[in-house]
Amino acid sequence: MLKLWNQEAADWRLALRTETEGVGSRLSVEADGKTATLWVGLGDAKTVTAETVRRAAAKGIKTLKGLGAKTVVLDPAAAQTLLEQDGVDAMAQGVALALYRPRSWKTEEQTDMTLYMASVLPSDECNSLTDAICLARDLVNCPANHLVPADLARTMTETARTYGVETEIISAEQARALGMEAFLTVGDSAGHAPCLIVLRYRGGAPDQAPIGLVGKGVTCDTGGYCLKPASSMKGIKGDMAGAAAVFGALLALARNKVPVNATVVIPSVENRIAPDSFIPGDVIGSMSGKTIEVGNTDAEGRLILADAITYALRKEGVGRVLDIATLTGAVVGMFGFTTAGFLCNDEAYCTDFMEAAAVSGEQYWRLPAFDEYRKMIESPVADVSNVSNDGCGTITAGLFLEAFTESHPWLHIDIAGTAWVDSPKWEYQTNGATGAAVTTLYHLCKAMAKEA
Ligand code: BES
Ligand code: ZN
Ligand code: ZN
Repeated sequence: MLKLWNQEAADWRLALRTETEGVGSRLSVEADGKTATLWVGLGDAKTVTAETVRRAAAKGIKTLKGLGAKTVVLDPAAAQTLLEQDGVDAMAQGVALALYRPRSWKTEEQTDMTLYMASVLPSDECNSLTDAICLARDLVNCPANHLVPADLARTMTETARTYGVETEIISAEQARALGMEAFLTVGDSAGHAPCLIVLRYRGGAPDQAPIGLVGKGVTCDTGGYCLKPASSMKGIKGDMAGAAAVFGALLALARNKVPVNATVVIPSVENRIAPDSFIPGDVIGSMSGKTIEVGNTDAEGRLILADAITYALRKEGVGRVLDIATLTGAVVGMFGFTTAGFLCNDEAYCTDFMEAAAVSGEQYWRLPAFDEYRKMIESPVADVSNVSNDGCGTITAGLFLEAFTESHPWLHIDIAGTAWVDSPKWEYQTNGATGAAVTTLYHLCKAMAKEA
C-alpha cells in the first residue's frame, strides 16, 4: 500500500511530464543531491488520458526496478494537473500493476521496493480496483493443481463474504436436481467435482433486477477427448479468467458500496478425459430444455455457460445478462492480445459498455450477429450444435450462448486474447494473467447504478 512521503530518504523520484513533440514515454534522468529523478514523457498534453499516465508510470517504475531502486517517491504533480484525482489514481495503479508478481513457489524470496506518493494518495476506489485486478491475476496465474473448482469456490466465497456479499455454492448434486445437463456433461466425469458459484451483491434498491455477471470458470481445459496438442496446453490453467473478471468487478463494487445489484454466476469445472467423459457426436440436454449436439469436446465453455445463463435468468431473476469467457482461439487470430471481441443484442447496453471501456482504457470491438451466422450452429439432430460448420468461431460461439438468453439484454465478451500475455503488451502488464475486464465491468455496473 502506498504511503504519503514524509521526506524519508529515497534513492529515486519518479515524475511525469508532457512534451510538445514525440510519442511519449521517453525517459530522462536528472540527478540533484541524494535523490535522482527519472522523468517519463507523456507526449502531447492534449492527448493525455488516464491510460497514457498508467503506461508511462509503469514504464518508469519497471525502469527503476531494473536499476535496482529500493525506495521510490512517486510524484503525481503532472498527472494531477492534467487529470485531477484520476491522474493521481492512474499513476498509482500503473506502478502497482507493473510491480505485480504472481505467487511464487520458488524457495528463495525476492524483496519489495518501498514506495511513497509525493503529495496526494490514490483514491479508495483506485486502490480497490488495483487490488481486484491483482486478485484476478492471482487466480488466473494459479496452477490448476492448486485451484480446482472447489478451491475457486472457497477462495471466492470467503473473500466475498468479508465485504458483505451473499454467497452460495451449488453442488453437482444440486445442479443435477436443477437439470443442468450441459454443465454436468463437461464437469461431472473429472476427478475434481464441478460446482456453480453464486455471489449476490445488493447495493441497489430491493426492487431493481440485478445484472447477471456470468464468468467461465474452467480451472483446466485439456480439450477432453478432442485433446489439445501439447503445444496449446501451456495456458490451460487460465481458462477461468472470465470467472476471475466477474469476481474482481463484484468485489470492487462491494468495497465501494456502489448502489447497484449484481449477481455473479460461475460454472466451474475441469475439462478432462475419463472413461465416461462426453465425446463428439453425443447429444445432451440443458437446463433450458434445449438439446445440444456436441461437435467438439474442446468447445466446453459454451456448454457450461449456457446452463449458467439459464440459471441466472430463471433462479436469480437477473435483468441484463453479461457473460465473459476465454472462449475461442479465433478471437486471438482476429484481434491479437490487446483487444477483446464482443457481441450485444441491445443498443443502449452496448453504449453503456463502450462508455465503461473508455473509462477503463481497455480495448473492445463489437462483432456482427447476422442471421447467416446463426445457421452455422444448426444441428441436424438437436436444437443447436456446439461448433460451427462454417468457421466464424468467435461469433458463432457467442450466438450459441444467445440461444439461451431468453430475449434478455445480453452482452458476450471473449477475452481469450486479452486475459493472458506471454510478454507484456502494455507497460503495466506482467507475464501471465492480465486481470482483463475487471475495471470495465466495474465501471459498467457503476454507470448502471447512476441510471437506475
Ligand atoms: N478455452 C478455449 C479457448 C482458448 C483458446 C482460450 C486459446 C485461450 C487461448 C476453448 O475452450 C476452446 O478450446 N475453444 C475451441 C473451440 C473450437 C473447438 C470450436 C477453439 O477456439 O479452438
Ligand atoms: Zn476448450
Ligand atoms: Zn476452454
